[in-house]
Amino acid sequence: MIRSVVRGIGSALPRRIMKNADFEGMVETSDEWIAQRTGIRQRHIAADDETTASLGEAAARAALDNAGLTPADIDLIVLATSTPNNTFPATAVEIQNRLGMRHGFAFDMQAVCSGFVYAVTTADLYIKGGLAKRVLVIGSETFSRILDWSDRSTCVLFGDGAGALVLEAAEGQGTIADRGVLAASLRSDGTHKDKLYVDGGPSTTGTVGHLKMEGREVFKHAVGMITDVIEDVFTQADISADDLDWFVPHQANKRIIDASAKKLGIPEDKAVVTVHLHGNTSAASVPLALSAAVADGRIKKGDLVMLEAMGGGFTWGAVLVRW
Ligand SMILES: CC(C)(COP(=O)(O)OP(=O)(O)OC[C@H]1O[C@@H](n2cnc3c(N)ncnc32)[C@H](O)[C@@H]1OP(=O)(O)O)[C@@H](O)C(=O)NCCC(=O)NCCS
Repeated sequence: MIRSVVRGIGSALPRRIMKNADFEGMVETSDEWIAQRTGIRQRHIAADDETTASLGEAAARAALDNAGLTPADIDLIVLATSTPNNTFPATAVEIQNRLGMRHGFAFDMQAVCSGFVYAVTTADLYIKGGLAKRVLVIGSETFSRILDWSDRSTCVLFGDGAGALVLEAAEGQGTIADRGVLAASLRSDGTHKDKLYVDGGPSTTGTVGHLKMEGREVFKHAVGMITDVIEDVFTQADISADDLDWFVPHQANKRIIDASAKKLGIPEDKAVVTVHLHGNTSAASVPLALSAAVADGRIKKGDLVMLEAMGGGFTWGAVLVRW
């Protein structure tokens, strides 16, 4: 059977780093409060000339270089983002243009922090359905542009960045030993909309709006939702936590990562954590964490890797990949 195998990976972060201490004086907070409650130490903030499209393009080029490919080799671009450059056209099409591609097709996916997990699953289906052979899957965000910088309960949590994978069609045996995307579980439930949303949009206020969150409520639901979809993937693939080489979770809060890993019986040293370096970068967080773990040699060819994310909507999901 056809499998969607990872051929390359890359990432990009804005030049400017904002440390926790930089918030002191802006809002009533402290490095200690932020680090203790979230694990975040710093985040990258986009300059005026850095956008979701430019960061996404940089991550895509890095992934293509890593794969030894060029834009000519790509059939499809799926961009996960909730902070597009424009309401339309899709920022994926802008990235396609920036890459000099006049062939193939490109579209955006909007599942907030779960966007990358949704996008990998979607790209896998396009590959298995025969509509594409090589797909650039990008998560790129500039959440700094939708933050209320006077709201200490949200502005300290998020950052900007991008990550990308090249997925490629390859022949597999249809077993768990195959490389590539092996199983996935996606969920959404709109009854939770008011717990995490942006209070603007083209069809309502005609403005972009600002992020609003009931942090404690999100926290309360996160661990149960994350562990549910991962257990569903365990069942589908007939594996247990012991079979995993790496757990690459959404990087929102170290306490959520630790509690999820503990509930699933995944040892702490198998969890990839980068939230201290870039905060919550929404759809970019999973590929940024993956990039770090591949670059430093932790994730190697043949490793079994569980990706998961949870975000506004709520949306949540998990994907099992053999690297
Ligand atoms: C936001 C979050 C860090 C808050 O941590 P918490 O332990 O739940 O803290 P609480 O909400 O209980 O707030 C504790 C106090 O700190 C205050 N506080 C909030 N932000 C603060 C900040 N940046 N600095 C200092 N104090 C802050 C609150 O006002 C509250 O004060 P009160 O008790 O006087 O009302 C945590 O709830 C969280 O991470 N939630 C999930 C968010 C998330 O992951 N979202 C993205 C999902 S994709």
